[in-house]
Amino acid sequence: MSPRLTDLPLDPIETASRAELQALQLERLKWSLHHAYANSPVYRRKFDEAGVHPDQLRSLADLARFPFTSKQDLRDNYPFGMFAVPQDRVARIHASSGTTGKPTVVGYTLQDIDNWATVMARSIRASGARRGDKVHISYGYGLFTGGLGAHYGVEKAGLTAIPFGGGQTERQVQLIQDFKPEVIMVTPSYMLAIADEFERQGIDPASTSLRVGIFGAEPWTPEMRLAIEKRMGISAVDIYGLSEVMGPGVANECAETKDGPTIWEDHFYPEIIDPDTGAVLPDGEFGELVFTSLTKEAMPVVRYRTRDLTRLLPGTARAAFRRMEKVTGRTDDMMIVRGVNVFPSQIEELILRHAELAPHYQCVLAKEGHLDTLTVRVECAHGNETAATHGARVRLAHEIKSYIGVTAGIEVLPEGGIERSVGKAKRIVDQRPR
Ligand code: DLL
Repeated sequence: MSPRLTDLPLDPIETASRAELQALQLERLKWSLHHAYANSPVYRRKFDEAGVHPDQLRSLADLARFPFTSKQDLRDNYPFGMFAVPQDRVARIHASSGTTGKPTVVGYTLQDIDNWATVMARSIRASGARRGDKVHISYGYGLFTGGLGAHYGVEKAGLTAIPFGGGQTERQVQLIQDFKPEVIMVTPSYMLAIADEFERQGIDPASTSLRVGIFGAEPWTPEMRLAIEKRMGISAVDIYGLSEVMGPGVANECAETKDGPTIWEDHFYPEIIDPDTGAVLPDGEFGELVFTSLTKEAMPVVRYRTRDLTRLLPGTARAAFRRMEKVTGRTDDMMIVRGVNVFPSQIEELILRHAELAPHYQCVLAKEGHLDTLTVRVECAHGNETAATHGARVRLAHEIKSYIGVTAGIEVLPEGGIERSVGKAKRIVDQRPR
C-alpha cells in the first residue's frame, strides 16, 4: 500500500480490523436505537407503528427491520421535535436552508461536537495535512455546518485554522498570498471562483503555498478534480457529509488512494437501498445512501434517507472502513427531460472536455408547449471570446445528444456570465411553470 501522506497520528480505530470495527458498530447501534426509542417521542411512535423494538436488533443486518427517517420527518417536527435530550444539554444548533419551505434543524450536545471534531480531524489528516499546516477555511460559518465543522476539526487535528468563511473573494486571494496556508477547505465551485480572482489579479493560481484542497458540500466530477488540481497546483480530495447526519466529515477521501470517500463507520452506519422499494442492496450495487448515527446524543438519526445516489465499496487506505463512490447525483437533482434522466454532473463531465469552455455552468429547464427543454449555459474559458467557441458549442451539443440522449441548446456566455455562489453552486434553473 502507498505510504500515508500525513505525519499526524491516526486514531487507533483507523487501523483496527473489520471484525473489531463491526463489534463496535453493533454495540453502538444497540445503544443508539435504545436511546432514540427511550428519548425521542418521534422514534418511539415510528418504531411502535412498524412493530419493532430496539431489543430485536441482534445483528447489524437486523437494522433493515427498522423504519426509515426522511427530511419530511424533520420538517414535520420543526424546529426541535427530533431532539432526544433536554434543551439544557443542547450545546449548538445548525440548520440547512433547503430550496423550499422551512429549514431542517439539527442539534448537538458537547459530546456530539467532540465526536464531530474527531471525525473532521481524521478527515483532514486523511486528506494529507501535515504537522504545522495552516488551513484556510472558506466554507460558510453560521447555521451551515461547513465552516464550524471544518474549524473544530482543524483545531482538533492540531493545525492552525484560518476562519475566513465564504465571500469577499478579492480578500480571500490576498490572505492566501499573505498567510500562505498549505490547505484550503471550500466548495469546488467556489474554489474555481477564487482561482478566477487570482488570474484577474495577474497571479498564477498554481503558484500559491496551497498543497491540498478538501472539497465537498456539492457534487463534483472526477474531471473537475483534474481541472482544479492542474489549475491550482494542488492535490484535491472529496469530503462528504450532511447536516442531518452530522455535517462535513461523515466520509472523506484518503489522499494516497483518492478512490472515493472513506466512511467513518464507527460513528455513521451506512446502507444502500433501492430508492423505489426500500430494499437493502448488497455492497457494490448503486442506490440511495442511508445512514444511522451510532453515537449522536442530541439528535440521533435512524436509517436517514440522504437522497444521495452512490454505492458502497471495500476499504483500501483504511482497510476496515468501507468507502462510498463519489456522489455525482442526488435524487432531487435529477432532471427528466423528455423522459431521459439527466444529472448536472453528466453535463459537467462533457463541458470539461472543451478547453474553450470554463466549468461554470447552469442547466436551464423550460417548457415549449407541452415539452421540456434543456439549455446548458456555460462560460467561455479565460481569455476566450464567445465567438471563438462555435466549434465547442456544436461539439458539446452533439456529445450531450450521443452520450446522455437528450437534445440541449448550448448558450455560451462571456467570462463572469454565470452567477457565482460563495458556497454551493446552483446548477439547475427551473423555469417551467408550476
Ligand atoms: O453540505 C455538509 C458539508 C459541508 C459537506 C462542507 C462537505 C463539506 P448540507 O448542507 O446538509 O451539508 O448538504 C448535504 O450536500 O446530502 C449531498 O447531496 C451534498 N454533498 C455534500 N458533500 C458532498 C460531496 C453539507 N462531497 C448534501 N459530493 C448531501 C457530492 C455532496 N455531494
